[in-house]
Amino acid sequence: MKTLKKIIAATLALCMLLCFAGCGEKDDNKLIMGTNATFPPYEFVDDNGEIAGIDAEIAQAIADKLDMELEINDMEFESLITACAGGSVDMVLAGMTVSDERKESVNFSESYATGVQVIIVKEDSEIATVDDLDGKTIGTQTGTTGDIYCTDDYGQDFVKQYASGALAVEALKNGQVDCVVIDNEPAKNFVKANEGLKILDTEYVTEDYAIAIAKDNDELLKKVNDALAELKADGTIDKIINKYIPAE
Ligand code: ARG
Repeated sequence: MKTLKKIIAATLALCMLLCFAGCGEKDDNKLIMGTNATFPPYEFVDDNGEIAGIDAEIAQAIADKLDMELEINDMEFESLITACAGGSVDMVLAGMTVSDERKESVNFSESYATGVQVIIVKEDSEIATVDDLDGKTIGTQTGTTGDIYCTDDYGQDFVKQYASGALAVEALKNGQVDCVVIDNEPAKNFVKANEGLKILDTEYVTEDYAIAIAKDNDELLKKVNDALAELKADGTIDKIINKYIPAE
């Protein structure tokens, strides 16, 4: 009986030890990406409920290079910079534009893609160019550069904010806004998925996408930049982008 107790106690102790060791190792080795998966083709929830897209695949490729385990945290777009600066996520890949304002809170990696702010309107809209936006109601995703530019350029009263680009597009279809300002690739996706919409030929603003990393995590910034450089050089980044954005 005594021996049995000892064996059980020893087994339990061993289990706990292994568990702690295992957990500790796992955490150190985890790379947590923050994103807002409402932004196809960069990040979206696929038919299996998984977060897919260019950013998810680039993040996975980086994690593989660093021999780390990738975990993805989906959250509101406007919470991402704070989450990153506060360390609850290690890096943000969210089609995120490099901006001076954001650089006050986080660091950015080298850029891996470019985006263009474009204007979506109904096919029969009287809005034909950027110059026609004055006095119109513009739909945006809260906290995005499109949102910030439009508020600066046309005033808060003329900008309606939505939790996602898709909701802004819904509002456009319902006539609650006259246009939506959003990045070009998601715009193409939304126009394709909804009838009666078009993207204006005039571009609004061109910008660089990069990975945000906390200011006090220079070690990770360096590792990510090194990994990115390798993935660019060996064609992996191009391959991922071409998979989701077929050449026209
Ligand atoms: N490029 C824009 C920005 O940085 C929009 C990004 C929105 N991304 C997203 N995953 N919803 O503000």
